[in-house]
Amino acid sequence: MKQTIIPHGIKKAIIVDKWTLSDIECLAIGAFSPLTGFMEEADYHTVVEAMRLANGTVWPLPVTLAVDADEHDDLVPDDRILLRGEDGVDYAILQVKSCFVPDKMREAERVFRTVDLAHPGVKKLFEKPNLYVGGPVEILQKPQPERFSDFYLTPAETRKIFREKGWKTVVGFQTRNPVHRAHEYIQKTALEIVDGLFLNPLMGETKSDDVPAQVRMKSYLALLENYYPHNRVLLGAFPAAMRYAGPREAVFHALVRKNYGCTHFIVGRDHAGVGDYYGTYDAQHIFSEFAPGELGIQLLFFEHSFYCKVCQGMATTKTCPHDKDSHMTLSGTKVREMLRNGITPPPEFTRPEVATILIEGLKAPQ
Ligand code: ADX
Repeated sequence: MKQTIIPHGIKKAIIVDKWTLSDIECLAIGAFSPLTGFMEEADYHTVVEAMRLANGTVWPLPVTLAVDADEHDDLVPDDRILLRGEDGVDYAILQVKSCFVPDKMREAERVFRTVDLAHPGVKKLFEKPNLYVGGPVEILQKPQPERFSDFYLTPAETRKIFREKGWKTVVGFQTRNPVHRAHEYIQKTALEIVDGLFLNPLMGETKSDDVPAQVRMKSYLALLENYYPHNRVLLGAFPAAMRYAGPREAVFHALVRKNYGCTHFIVGRDHAGVGDYYGTYDAQHIFSEFAPGELGIQLLFFEHSFYCKVCQGMATTKTCPHDKDSHMTLSGTKVREMLRNGITPPPEFTRPEVATILIEGLKAPQ
């Protein structure tokens, strides 16, 4: 419901962007459990420094509400504020518990391992206003997806579905991309040892040259229809925004999928990475910083996978003895460029049904 009046007991309304709305949605549905709101100062510091909340629970990424310091210097603990979308809809109420000015250089160094503004996550961090406001969030209305609303399942719903299907073990798969053959290979390899696959593409904000979520959703449906056993896969949208925080985001992605009811989670090459900021397997190595069992979800690590022309199948260097010349690999950037130019990538890289949808979806508006 659109609002212009501030209800009794509410100090003011603050306009929040789509990114913040996606965080509110994730908090509201329990995807970010145990978080129930935007981080207060104590949690923020321990998360940035040690990947833990102040009570010691593992949590690797700040989830913060940034507001303009000049405009909102009147906020004090116990204020209640409305979080209003740019569309005028009041989505949530935040009960202010702490207001603090973050050290963004420190946050960037610790979370992104770089302060380079060319990194999309760092850029976003420095673009945000300078005052963080933390406290519990009470949802008034969930943001409505433009399309594919049936796929926006809550963790309670996915857990129920897994139970009804009789899946005792479920592997979660995060992606911000179309599912190419390498993704398919590692998902199906995992499916050989677990009962079900939860394909959980990220639908929130991504950098502008990533394939738009709506186009990707169409391509996932075509892929599942044609190449996956229907009774062993569940497709569900993950409403969050992409941080591009590589290793730390891999831990975050794993914890969130545990909340959705997954028992296993896939981490392949350069998970949630961008450019050359992270080593190919840094997002796997980070998990050794936690005690065994501490995360409550089992990680399945995969090497860089490719199609080998000699083996005539998908492989990794763990399973293929041939040299690099036999391996077909294409960078994500190269594939997007091909698709944008209407060129179908080889079937060893992308299923033709997927390529057709991507080419159509990426066509520049006439
Ligand atoms: S992201 O969300 O992690 O940025 P992306 O689509 O690039 O999305 O990757 C999804 C998952 O597949 C990640 O775990 C990533 O490590 C893995 N992955 C992507 N490409 C490959 C590949 N060629 N070989 C092995 N793993 C891969």
